[in-house]
Amino acid sequence: MGYNLLKGKKGIIFGALDENSIAWKTAERVHEEGGSFVLTNAPIAMRMGQINELAKKTGSEIIPADATSEEDLANLVSQAMEILGGKLDFVLHSIGMSVNVRKGRAYTDEKYDFTAKGWDVSALSFHKVMQSLYKADAMNEWGSIVALTYMAAQRTFPDYNDMADNKAYLESVARSFGYFFGKEKKVRVNTISQSPTPTTAGQGVKGFDGFISYAEKMSPLGNATALDCANYTVSLFSDLTRKVTMQNLFHDGGFSMTGVSQEVIERFTE
Ligand code: NAI
Repeated sequence: MGYNLLKGKKGIIFGALDENSIAWKTAERVHEEGGSFVLTNAPIAMRMGQINELAKKTGSEIIPADATSEEDLANLVSQAMEILGGKLDFVLHSIGMSVNVRKGRAYTDEKYDFTAKGWDVSALSFHKVMQSLYKADAMNEWGSIVALTYMAAQRTFPDYNDMADNKAYLESVARSFGYFFGKEKKVRVNTISQSPTPTTAGQGVKGFDGFISYAEKMSPLGNATALDCANYTVSLFSDLTRKVTMQNLFHDGGFSMTGVSQEVIERFTE
């Protein structure tokens, strides 16, 4: 299913760890739509992941970068422009990790060193990525930058832990940087608020199985899959959405606007 929506466009895709990753599916779809890109991930994830396979399949080069390191990001941006032969049209930030969640710390028992690290990786890294692009004047006019988020930024999902706060920060950065990128470089910045999705990061959330099947039953269209998310991202990278910016866009089969569904009511009247 290719429409050549991204023909001739160039970019950077962060966060493809394995074939379940939202970034992995996005890379495949961007490739099918004619876009070319550099793949990047944290050096440690490269050793664990299967990113080489994706690179081969999409004819892409890989440049390792820790998204919390300004030095790594500056190097990534300049190398990407060199490899791709010019400025960039799209960037996907698909990065998240909470140390408190990983170490099983409850929200009411955070270890703040862990909190700070998780915030740096999951939230501040989006600012760092954009500042690196901005300072290098690396984006073409009418380019598009997308980051992934979750609805726990607006409404409480207790087991989402400190990632809820990280996502609230991430969404705010999209609005704030979106202003400057729009005014000065005609570049749009948005976040996609995605349904629960069975990936490494997703499955790290306590009670994920209950979480995902509840969302499935609540959403009139059912949960959005990783492939659905990739397709939506392609639309945001394309020229068809040039005036959409500074938005948090819910991509969740209608979950966020549903008070209750028939399926959920039936569960409680059994
Ligand atoms: P994933 O585990 O496949 O991807 C997360 C990526 O972050 C991995 O590739 C990992 O290596 C990368 N990463 C971690 N630390 C890094 C660092 N210091 N520098 C560079 N990269 C680093 O999981 P998924 O689900 O594809 O996650 C992608 C994004 O989607 C995340 O922002 C996540 O919060 C978001 N999201 C996921 C949902 C889900 O249910 N899976 C729902 C809504 C949003």
